[in-house]
Amino acid sequence: MAEKIHIFDTTLRDGEQTPGCQLATHEKIEIAKELELLGVDIIEAGFPISSPGDFNSVVEISKAVSAPVICALARTVQKDIDMAADALRFAKRKRIHTGMGSSDMHIEHKFKSTREKVLEQSVWAVKYAKSKNVDEVEFYAEDAGRADLAFLAKLTEAVIAAGADVVNIPDTTGYCLPELYGKRIQYLFDNVPNIHKAIISVHCHNDLGLATANSISGVMHGARQVECTINGIGERAGNTSMEEVVMIMRTHKDLGFDTGINAKLLYPTSQLVSELMRMPVQANKSIVGRNAFAHSSGIHQDGFLKHAEVYEIINPEDVGVPASSIVLTARSGRHALKYRLEMLGYLFEREELNSMYDKFIALADKQKLVTDDDLQALVTAEYPVKAEAVRRQ
Ligand code: KIV
Ligand code: ZN
Repeated sequence: MAEKIHIFDTTLRDGEQTPGCQLATHEKIEIAKELELLGVDIIEAGFPISSPGDFNSVVEISKAVSAPVICALARTVQKDIDMAADALRFAKRKRIHTGMGSSDMHIEHKFKSTREKVLEQSVWAVKYAKSKNVDEVEFYAEDAGRADLAFLAKLTEAVIAAGADVVNIPDTTGYCLPELYGKRIQYLFDNVPNIHKAIISVHCHNDLGLATANSISGVMHGARQVECTINGIGERAGNTSMEEVVMIMRTHKDLGFDTGINAKLLYPTSQLVSELMRMPVQANKSIVGRNAFAHSSGIHQDGFLKHAEVYEIINPEDVGVPASSIVLTARSGRHALKYRLEMLGYLFEREELNSMYDKFIALADKQKLVTDDDLQALVTAEYPVKAEAVRRQ
């Protein structure tokens, strides 16, 4: 029986911090409803103290969706926690996510404080958040990826003793290597006596392109909640990408984890977020990018057309992508050309196909992609009778 990994979606909070991706409340509600269909466990709906608009979005999302827990961010500051609790008042299940920096870098340079004071303030904030009539309190130890491990363990123990239901160990700056991050989580399991009273959460940033790898490593060392965003959007280089986490766990069933996410909605959700946030998905983005299931070179196309799994580890339909595509370029082979011509209704004998292939390569060398319209024009020029016959069908 696979172990449940809780999916905490922060597209509407950390994701929305992406420059240029700010959303209106009605757009956030649309995304929140899609996330609910997707089956996420927790939606981080915003940071209510940050602006009246964000406060209002948390209120409206709380009314609009009912299955996921709705979470609001707050610093370890009374007015933040008050605002978060107030914004969550209509949510069926409410979570306050409070926290502060845990690394000496943050403690000395951001707070001009000391470890002792950070510990005290964190404990106070968790207790205060617990008193606010919410269902759950999550504590984030910001910049835990660079924090002193013994102090991180002390802080984790103290906030759990204060009532934290979830403790988030963020790699805020995307600094860690997967093994290093996994060992941090393991250290906490080995050195925090009350750790089993809380869920440990991973929240990784992608500054070195390691956010997903670090999150998976964290889960392999005991974390049971992953904080992530659709399309991996978020501060700077972004956050862990939800679609990657979900499909890693589905593809590697032997890991023994399951997110419960309705994977067929991953691609439609990715498209929705991209469109509403006006943030194009990079073409080679895993799972949801335009090229994720596109085959372009002759060797790959030939292998794929013989048996899809030769070059695909995921069936595109499983993530809601309608089909794989065979892209025609100057690197494509005869097998791909034949396939695409057949899709257009043309059957060619070997000699005809060879001649078409020469014409196609000459054209492909002049332009990057050869489209169906280009193929149609080639057939019309070279084999007008065939073209006319297909047109009449
Ligand atoms: O990256 C981070 O540390 C955060 C916290 C606010 C959870 O986004
Ligand atoms: Zn973050």
